[in-house]
Amino acid sequence: MKEKFTNSAKETTFLGYQVGLLLEPGSVLLLEGDLAAGKTTFTKGIGQALGIKRNINSPTYTIMKRYMMDENKLYHVDLYRLDEVGSDFDLEDYINSDGISVIEWPHKVSHILPKEYLLVEFTDLGNDQRKITFTAKGEKYERVEHYL
Ligand SMILES: Nc1ncnc2c1ncn2[C@@H]1O[C@H](COP(=O)(O)OP(=O)(O)OP(=O)(O)O)[C@@H](O)[C@H]1O
Ligand SMILES: [Mg+2]
Repeated sequence: MKEKFTNSAKETTFLGYQVGLLLEPGSVLLLEGDLAAGKTTFTKGIGQALGIKRNINSPTYTIMKRYMMDENKLYHVDLYRLDEVGSDFDLEDYINSDGISVIEWPHKVSHILPKEYLLVEFTDLGNDQRKITFTAKGEKYERVEHYL
């Protein structure tokens, strides 16, 4: 487990950037935290690290947005408005692909989550300060956590 503190949205994006540089294809990140805690802000930085030029914004109304840059693929998933997981949504296929999956509100689909992932928990401490905690499940994520 590793704890970081940021004092602005820009710092949270930069932390996402640092994490993004360490991710291997097929990585899965679970982002937990209240509304406006900074999950999407962090994801923007991951996109920057992958060379994605398109602006990454909240995919709330679409559940999943897919970004690509050369061989890098980023699946940004926001399950906040997902009431029931229909069999029509092949989220599991994305999670098990060689793209990087970043999932906001992941507990809504806990039954399809992989055994190994990087859990990132966001806490709003007020005054633009956020606590961001990283917990690795699995060796490849321990490596990421170690280098942060
Ligand atoms: N230190 C900080 N880190 C991240 N965001 C911050 C910070 N300080 C202020 N903010 C602001 O908080 C908001 C975070 O919004 P963001 O969309 O990233 O949250 P979220 O966790 O994705 O929320 P949601 O669950 O609604 O998708 C932004 O408006 C951002 O500018
Ligand atoms: Mg969000």
